[in-house]
Amino acid sequence: MKKEVFDPWEVSGDIDYGKLVKKFGVSHLRELPEVFEKNVLFRRKVVFAHRDIQRILEAKKKGKKFVMMTGLMPTGKFHIGHMLVAQQMIFWQKLGAKVYIAVADIEAHNTRNQSLKESREIAIEQYIKNYIALGLNLKNCEIYFQSDRSRDGKKAGVYYRLQNLLARHVTFNEFKGVYGDVTPGKMLSALLQASDMLHSQLPELEGPCPVVVPVGIDQDPHLRLARDLSQRIKESKFVQISSTYNVFMPGLKGGKMSSSDGSSFIAMTDSAKEVESKVKKYAFSGGRETLDEHRKKGGNPDVDVSYQYLKMFFEDDDKKLKKIYDDYKSGKMLTSELKEILIEKLNAFLKNHQKKLKEITKKDIEKFLDN
Ligand code: TRP
Repeated sequence: MKKEVFDPWEVSGDIDYGKLVKKFGVSHLRELPEVFEKNVLFRRKVVFAHRDIQRILEAKKKGKKFVMMTGLMPTGKFHIGHMLVAQQMIFWQKLGAKVYIAVADIEAHNTRNQSLKESREIAIEQYIKNYIALGLNLKNCEIYFQSDRSRDGKKAGVYYRLQNLLARHVTFNEFKGVYGDVTPGKMLSALLQASDMLHSQLPELEGPCPVVVPVGIDQDPHLRLARDLSQRIKESKFVQISSTYNVFMPGLKGGKMSSSDGSSFIAMTDSAKEVESKVKKYAFSGGRETLDEHRKKGGNPDVDVSYQYLKMFFEDDDKKLKKIYDDYKSGKMLTSELKEILIEKLNAFLKNHQKKLKEITKKDIEKFLDN
């Protein structure tokens, strides 16, 4: 049997979201104001759970300042799975959040043995470029590297100072309890990530205010640690952090989409031909063995990867999506037809996206990295 791992650095095996919600003590996302319902990721429960989201809703309602903070681990090619968090960043920014984004280059160094130089290159060429093409506005945004917080010595100082001061408020046993296997590199990464999530509230930056952290649910241990630490530290006052959790983007063949397996993802730079051949060859199908059986018994859209992609990103019209669901389930629609719909939608999206990508240069990005 394959070993199942589920921690912020590795996820393998089947994922039972209901179980994770219970185990971690997060809450299912239920009724949300209309602006959220307009966003497919919230409406279709791709973002399915939270901690303390009411604090953010309250701030939004009262027109008070709030922050959206998240981070990226710069490894491999940017693929459609990365769009999940990217689109949430953009959603929050449009809603009025001040945006903070950490490039986790120290974490990539300490837990994946990747050089800072390589992380910088990948972060700019793959991640930030795509964020901009998807609609992120770098003007109202602090993007920084964990290894190089800011040219402004004061700002940089308080970020690293907080990481160090937090160390006083956690024990080794607690680390083991939260993370299982611990190494010095993981400990430092966890404390730095806590500082990522908390430091915007320091008086030198925004001051105490609500912060929402959108992440995949594997990151919740970091949130639990940061939330606990924030209430123990005496040197500063923090409003408790809020967070939202999205499901993982399924890989083409099922399982998790992974940058290290080219046949599990569609990259933003894949050509129309590549998309067609990957979807046809790899996309896990909920169809039946034979045409006859499919027509008679129908397919299973809930496990069909092409259907999942349409649901998560590429078909916003609820009525059209429902028709696809019903037709596939009844056997009226075949797997080959479902795949054709996805291929067409995906390629139309990528064509437009790739045009935007071409117009963004490294220089455009560098000038915003001087926070
Ligand atoms: N650990 C995150 C990842 O592996 C990256 C990250 C760093 C992060 N700092 C963060 C995520 C702060 C959320 C908030 O993807």
